[in-house]
Amino acid sequence: MQIQAVRGFRDVLPGEVALWHKVEEIARSVLERYGFREIRIPILEKTELFSRSIGESTDIVEKEMYTFTDRSGISLTMRPEATAGILRAYIEHSLFQLEPVSKLYCIGPMFRHERPQKGRYRQFHQINAEVLGSSDPRTDAELLALLRTLFEELGLGELDFQLNSLGCPRCRPGFRSKVAEYLGSKKAHLCSDCQRRLMTNPLRVYDCKVATCKEALAGAPVILDELCQECGAHFLSVQKNLSLLGVPFSVNPFIVRGLDYYRRTTFEVVSSDLGAQNAVCGGGRYDGLIGELGGPDLPGIGFAIGEERLVSILQGRAGVPSFSLDLFLAALGEEATEKAFLYLDKARRLGLKAEMDLRGGSLKAQMRRANKLGSRRLLILGEDELSRGVATVKDMDGGTQVEIPLEELESAMAGWKEACSQRG
Ligand code: HAM
Repeated sequence: MQIQAVRGFRDVLPGEVALWHKVEEIARSVLERYGFREIRIPILEKTELFSRSIGESTDIVEKEMYTFTDRSGISLTMRPEATAGILRAYIEHSLFQLEPVSKLYCIGPMFRHERPQKGRYRQFHQINAEVLGSSDPRTDAELLALLRTLFEELGLGELDFQLNSLGCPRCRPGFRSKVAEYLGSKKAHLCSDCQRRLMTNPLRVYDCKVATCKEALAGAPVILDELCQECGAHFLSVQKNLSLLGVPFSVNPFIVRGLDYYRRTTFEVVSSDLGAQNAVCGGGRYDGLIGELGGPDLPGIGFAIGEERLVSILQGRAGVPSFSLDLFLAALGEEATEKAFLYLDKARRLGLKAEMDLRGGSLKAQMRRANKLGSRRLLILGEDELSRGVATVKDMDGGTQVEIPLEELESAMAGWKEACSQRG
């Protein structure tokens, strides 16, 4: 029987990969311009790391983690997100001793056992960035400005930045009790999940997509009315600095986020091109978490972009990069094939993207293959060329054709490489 991929785990096929490369290349370039350095962390961590940071009563920890006991009897979890792992590494390697503020990013797969649908998978990829050691509201604005630059460079200047503040341990408990009291009076209208959340994590109701729950929230208390003086001033300063940097945003007091570690600034970047799963990016501040995980009492803020969702928006746009070759070598006859095979390797070592069809076949068939692969140049080495010691080289864009003596072929190929590099 044929074996298929695990539900919610998708293959990224070669036709799509060019777009992933483009996204990651631009992301790395922008992140590095804003002072971030890459960190690579393991996919497996001790389960406790996630339950302590993300929160026991979140959907992720309650029902979405891929958790198992390994052969030494330790409970391990495949990372559902990257923040916890980055903080663990930051604390474990005392990175806070190296720099007053650390800016770290990582790119890679995350795992959540959610119900798969368009834009929601069980293995998905995030571009994740964290700034550790600064509570300055300018840091929050700088991070959102980075996202603005990144999305602009990807040609997505229209995305909607939604901002909120979730307060701190001083002001949030008061808000939470008000929410619990308000929603208690609406209990009958809430879905069964939210009725349960009422007991464990009432703020999560703000995030529920069920229509009756949304209606029940119509007159609900708003966190921004309940912020303490410091949180209120911090939030205002974030907004002032965003305006200074020209980052457009809207305030949405319903951004509560699905992870418990957030304090103060939270945000989501939303696209109208996506369906129900419309958040391309989510993040926020988590002052206090580094200390709770056994590190120094330092503040932090970060975000994660969902790469599948980003790629899916870009797929609908023009200018999707396609795979193309610099050179295709077509050969006729055993001797010419052997020579072409050698030049193929030389071309690649010179830095050209080169290919030939090792099955041979007619010149026509080989030319069709060159066209299909979008090759810029076609090099023909037939018996006639071989006997005269030349290769015919055809420019597939302009249609012009020249003969190049075989002893000059390598330097000609080096020249093509030079031209490719200049063209970028
Ligand atoms: P999150 O909101 O859970 O935040 O995920 C961030 C982004 O990852 C989402 O906006 C979405 O684009 C993508 N994403 C999440 N789940 C899935 C899924 N099942 N399938 C496809 N894409 C998905 C975090 O993960 C936080 N760690 C972000 C953060 C970093 N906060 C501070 N630092």
